[in-house]
Amino acid sequence: MDKIIIEGRRPLSGLASISGAKNAALPLMAAAILAPLTLENVPNLRDLATMGRLLTHMGGRVERDGGRMELDLSRLSRPEAPYEMVKTMRASALVLGPLLARHGRAKVSLPGGCAIGRRPIDRHLKALEAMGAVINLSGGYVEARAPSGGLRGANIHFDDITVTGTENLMLAAVLAKGRTTITGAAREPEVTDTARALLAMGARISGLDTDQLTIDGVTELEPALHQVMPDRIEAGTLIVAGALTGGRIVLKGPPHAALAAVYDKFREAGVSLTENDDELIVEAGPAVKSIDVTTRPYPGFPTDMQAQFMALMTIGNGVSLIHETIFENRFMHVSELVRLGADITLEGPTAMVRGVHRLSGAPMMATDLRASASLILAALTARGRSEISRVYHLDRGYDRLDEKLAALGADIRRLPE
Ligand code: EPZ
Repeated sequence: MDKIIIEGRRPLSGLASISGAKNAALPLMAAAILAPLTLENVPNLRDLATMGRLLTHMGGRVERDGGRMELDLSRLSRPEAPYEMVKTMRASALVLGPLLARHGRAKVSLPGGCAIGRRPIDRHLKALEAMGAVINLSGGYVEARAPSGGLRGANIHFDDITVTGTENLMLAAVLAKGRTTITGAAREPEVTDTARALLAMGARISGLDTDQLTIDGVTELEPALHQVMPDRIEAGTLIVAGALTGGRIVLKGPPHAALAAVYDKFREAGVSLTENDDELIVEAGPAVKSIDVTTRPYPGFPTDMQAQFMALMTIGNGVSLIHETIFENRFMHVSELVRLGADITLEGPTAMVRGVHRLSGAPMMATDLRASASLILAALTARGRSEISRVYHLDRGYDRLDEKLAALGADIRRLPE
């Protein structure tokens, strides 16, 4: 396991390129179960390596060459996702829908919880049953079978938003018999990116970017090539890095449209953001303004930016209330930020962050993906040395973030723990 050492208070400057989106690449890799797929702009992440191992375990071929990934699961022999693979990555549940669609059966380990919450897949399973799937839970596994004639189109409604639930059902419905409508569908840009790849493969989907998707099943899909969209959460994370260090940085290739709510909140907090075609110029304001934030499903402020935004609010000029509405335990970064001198109190799903003048470096421990980013960001503005252990959490979802920050002038090093 590695640790990251940071000497804080270096103003950042220069250019950083935004990598492909983890939360688009994962459903896109699962889509390759339906037909061979070539992906471009694929980031180098642990979670994608995990998904690659899972698809290979099933008998598929997954080959990477830089940002290009070739996936071919024509000779899929084992439609199953074993616990030892799924336990490290909940998104493995994304293979359930396409396996049922393409092979009529699947045996997928239940994901189990993770640091940020219980994270069940009950909504996924209920929706697949509506399409005729027979689902049994036994020994911690989901054993699913499609009806003899294949999955049937159905009218599916999600009372509560589920991003991978929407993706799973889309991946199941594209080869089902007849029409499927999904109301209460997640509108995250990564859902749309997955839908765009399915359209390129010959699927018939309408309602992209809305909460109502209509999918008319086809008999088979064709191989296709798809460019993974840029990662809006990596972009938001780097905006905080520039804002916290009094720097001026240029981000290359952020998905401006997908970041509207995030840009609004940063501008409200006094950060200067200038959109130039495919670049974003980030300039710290004279002070960080403390503002309130509530996480919401897209197009609201994303829960995946909550921990990083909190790092910014630790040096705000007042009091910020941060409400986490999506996950029940996504404040694991708070106790670590307090070790740097942040003044944060928790009241159920709300964190009250009283801005302090300065943070001071300290040893910290990462607990989950976005918490690890939050600790790194806070260490960049803290006086002195910080040390963050268990950075394997970071590598799950960021493509060399420490190297990108070092290239911007941060004093940041990665060492074996
Ligand atoms: C996706 O997770 C993302 N992961 C998460 O990003 C993101 O935080 C989340 O959506 C919310 O935007 C990927 O896309 C791979 P949900 P997902 O199903 O689909 C509950 C990151 O940091 N729920 O929208 O798993 C669930 O427990 C990761 O990149 C059920 O109760 O999230 C949660 O409280 C973290 N039953 C809420 O709904 C279900 O069947 C939203 O979950 C499904 C979900």
